[in-house]
This record gives sequence, structure tokens and C-alpha cells, in this order.
Amino acid sequence: MTYPKMSVALLAGLFTFVLQSTVPIESFSQSPELPETPYNYANQVLPGHFNNTPVNTPADNPVTDAGATLGRVLFYDVNLSANNSTACASCHAQDKAFVDGTVFSVGFEGGLTGRNSMATANLAYDDSGFFWDERANTIEEQVLMPIQDGTEMGMTLEALELKLADLSYYPGLFEAAFGSPEVTSDRISKALAQFLRSMISYRSRYDEGLATTRNPMTPFPNYSNSENLGKTVFMQNCARCHSGPVIHSPGSRTNGLGDYGDDHGKFDVTGDPGDINSFKSPSLRNIELTGPYMHDGRMETLEEVVEHYSSGITGRGPGGAVPGFPPGGFNFSAEQKAGLVAFMLTLTDQAFVSDPKFSDPFTGTTTGVESGMLSAHASLEAPYPNPANSFSTLSFNVSQVVNVKLEIRDVRGNLVAELFNADAFSGQQTLNWSGRLANGAQLPAGTYLLILHAGDEQFQRQIVWMP
Ligand code: HEC
Ligand code: HEC
Repeated sequence: MTYPKMSVALLAGLFTFVLQSTVPIESFSQSPELPETPYNYANQVLPGHFNNTPVNTPADNPVTDAGATLGRVLFYDVNLSANNSTACASCHAQDKAFVDGTVFSVGFEGGLTGRNSMATANLAYDDSGFFWDERANTIEEQVLMPIQDGTEMGMTLEALELKLADLSYYPGLFEAAFGSPEVTSDRISKALAQFLRSMISYRSRYDEGLATTRNPMTPFPNYSNSENLGKTVFMQNCARCHSGPVIHSPGSRTNGLGDYGDDHGKFDVTGDPGDINSFKSPSLRNIELTGPYMHDGRMETLEEVVEHYSSGITGRGPGGAVPGFPPGGFNFSAEQKAGLVAFMLTLTDQAFVSDPKFSDPFTGTTTGVESGMLSAHASLEAPYPNPANSFSTLSFNVSQVVNVKLEIRDVRGNLVAELFNADAFSGQQTLNWSGRLANGAQLPAGTYLLILHAGDEQFQRQIVWMP
């Protein structure tokens, strides 16, 4: 039976009140939805210019379809964080080519990371270290670091193993990937690394052009004049540090940003004076989607970046010299600047950022309902927009009449506000919330959890409240 849709905006007002209970959320038990036959991660057919072998795959961890499938689930699972609020994907979102679009990222308790999030495409072809200061030598080593980071996800590996082993969907996924259901941090690291290595972006207009001419220096028939001009200028001046099919060259370098504040990049890891202000020169794949730019997100647009290379190169030495750059910058013409930006836009790979095999398997619908229990077949949308305020839309769906509770909890699980508690009719329900608590105060800015209880099912989304 279907009931007419009804707006719950008014009801939400009536049901807004504060409870001061402390109900810690142990784990968040929504099951992933996976295809019956795993996606092809292991044998992706790449254009000729990619057929150099991936450079950092260890002999004991080749990419397999089952391993990368497990990695995908782990990458999107908020259970990897101490309070079930944050997944890798919270800071590495597919529609943004696996960054989050902010200057610094919000961690599991609302704290900010010290650097700008990094894109994760084509890491299999990346023969430098990982992170802006290259402090992780391998991808296997890298992936366990955010999990244990006190700002990012706040877990210990021991707690993580126990927690994941207790979730219904993991034993089968570990068995398929590694031959037995044991959950170990070594396997978690291997599976995440496999998923990352399978994230290959090879379907941009740059790849089409290169597949036709087989020479990055020749004009591409699929490019405009401005794009071809930009490509030439890029190959002459930039490709030394951003080159090859992945538009990346190994090694940290400095690109003359001037004031580095307290962050001196690789120097803080090695102590080698030659490394002062040296940062990884990142891949420019999908650069259109991965702003803001540089290790501290100081530049918002590609125009700003190009202007920096043209006129803003600032060094520490006498005369401000920076190795690899003419004093002050390349002094590009207006045409060259426009061309460089146009060329960088051709590195966008829409097929990659919408490929279902790299997408969120936790789509919001539960599949793990035990038999005999009422399934509400409900789903909870991410708040939009998020960071959220009183104009943001909160919406959920139920497909039958069921008791629905929509609440906001802080990241420690304490109830902050109940937005809705009633029998909901089937269909989509949307509401806005003023952010006003029962005592009249405004909800302070920060990271919270939006939780939907529908019958026996529970759904959860992160909400970053920025009134
Ligand atoms: C709270 C935000 C946040 C979370 C959660 C997070 N990351 Fe990151 N990630 C970042 C930031 C910020 C950097 C750059 C940090 C630095 O250089 O110090 C980064 C860097 C990386 C890099 C380095 C890329 C390169 O080119 O060197 C990889 C790979 C990566 N993250 C994967 C992951 C994985 C896998 C997870 C989950 C296990 C994860 N991240 C969780 C924010 C996050
Ligand atoms: C000497 C090496 C070098 C050269 C030459 C160079 N870059 Fe860079 N580039 C870097 C480094 C290192 C970074 C990261 C610096 C940081 O964040 O501190 C960077 C960052 C960038 C970024 C931002 C990437 C991101 O994900 O935030 C863009 C875009 C970029 N460069 C474009 C260019 C263009 C266009 C040129 C040529 C006009 C160029 N680069 C020349 C080393 C270089």
C-alpha cells in the first residue's frame, strides 16, 4: 500500500528536542551492495602508452578482482574510523577525482588535517613515495597510516581487526580475497592497496590524443589550437616534473611558493637541508577536479597556479632563485597562460570519476536484514549541501509505513537532537532543520552524524554543520 508523499518540514519542527542520553555507537551495520560477478580490476585494457608495467606492485600482492573488491568496501566503510563517522572516501570522493574539495580535510572528531587531500589515481605507476612529503615508501604502508592517525580516523589496528571481524559482510570478502576469513591488518593493507592500484585513469582527451599520435610532442587532432599550444608550453616547461602517461615524475621538488609557514615538507622527514620546502610533485590527472591546489590548498584556480609559475616563483637563495625555474617565473604570454589552463582541462577523465567499480558500495539500502524481521527498505540521503546549514535538505526514503526516527548525534554517539519521530508514509521525505536545540541554543559548527532508524534498520550519514 502506498501513501501520498507528505512534507515533514512542519513535523520536524514539532519533534525537535534534545535528549541527554549517551548511547555509544559500536559499529555501523549497513551491508555493501556488490555485483554477483566482481568487476574487472585485475585486467583492465589500457591504451598503448600505459603498457609499461605498474611500477610498485609487490610480488606478494598482485591486484585480483576479489582483493580489490574487498579494498573498495574498506575504502568506503566508516567502520574504519573510531566513531564510525569517517571513511577513506570522506576525504577522497570519487566525483572530485578522490579529493574532497576543501583546503584541509575534516577528520573523525571534527579536527582538520595539516595538509590538502591528495588524489589517488594512477598510484600504480607512481615510483616516488606517498604523501606530500613522501614519508610512506609503499602503498601498503601508506594505507594503514590514515586509519591510525589521531586526526583522520583514530583507530588502532588491533581494535580494527576485532571490529571488522564482527561485521557480517567481512569474513566472506576476506575469504574470497585471501582464501580464509581471517581479518588481519596485513590483509586490510593489501586489499586497500589493490583497490588503489586498480584506480587507473586512462580515458581523458589527453589519452585519446596520445593514442592517435603516439607522441606527446605532436599536435593532437582532437585538441583545439589553444589546447595544442598549451600542450607544447607544458611539455617544454612543466613536464620535467609532471610527465608521462600519469603526468607525474618521481621525486620531491620545490616549486617556489615563497612562504611555507611551519611546513617544510620532506625536510621535516629527512632532516636533509636539500629537502627544505620540497613536496611531491603530484600527478596532474583530473587536475580540474582536485582543487584547491598545492600541499596547503593555497590556490583556488588553475589560472592562479599558472600565474604563479609565470610570475610568482619565489626562492630562499640570493636573488630568490629556485632550481629549475627562471628568476621570478616563466613570464608566459596571455595566450600561453590560457593554453596551459585549456591543456590541463583535457586531463579530466569523466569515465573514471563515474566508473561504478570505484563507487560507494554502501548505497544507503540495507541488504543485511535477518529473515523474519521487518525490512523497511529505507534509505538516507547525504545532506545537501554538506557542509550543512538550515538551508540544507535532509531526506530519506521508506517504501512502507514504518516508525522512523531521524536524529543527530555527535561523533561520540551522544544524542544532540531528534528531528523526526513518527510513523512515516512511503516515499521520499525531505526536511530542513534550523539547527536550534531544545534549549534555544544553536548547534555549534562541527562534524555530526545524521542517523535514521527505520523499523529495525539503521542508516548513517556524516553531516558537517556550518551555520
Ligand atoms: C580526514 C581525511 C582523510 C582520510 C579519512 C583519509 N585521507 Fe588519505 N589523505 C588525506 C590527506 C590530507 C593527505 C595528504 C596528507 C599528507 O601529505 O600529509 C592524504 C594522502 C593520501 C594518499 C597519498 C597519495 C599520494 O599521491 O601520495 C593516499 C594514497 C591516501 N591518502 C589514501 C587514503 C586511504 C586508503 C584512506 C583510508 C584508509 C585515507 N586516505 C583516509 C586525507 C585523508
Ligand atoms: C621543478 C619542478 C616543477 C615544475 C617545473 C613545475 N611544477 Fe607544478 N608542482 C611541482 C611541485 C613540487 C608541486 C607541489 C608543490 C607544493 O604543494 O608545495 C607542484 C604543483 C602543481 C600543481 C598543483 C597540484 C595539486 O594537486 O595541488 C599544478 C596544477 C602544477 N604544479 C602545474 C604546473 C604547471 C602548469 C607547470 C609548468 C608551467 C609546472 N607545474 C611546473 C613541481 C613542478
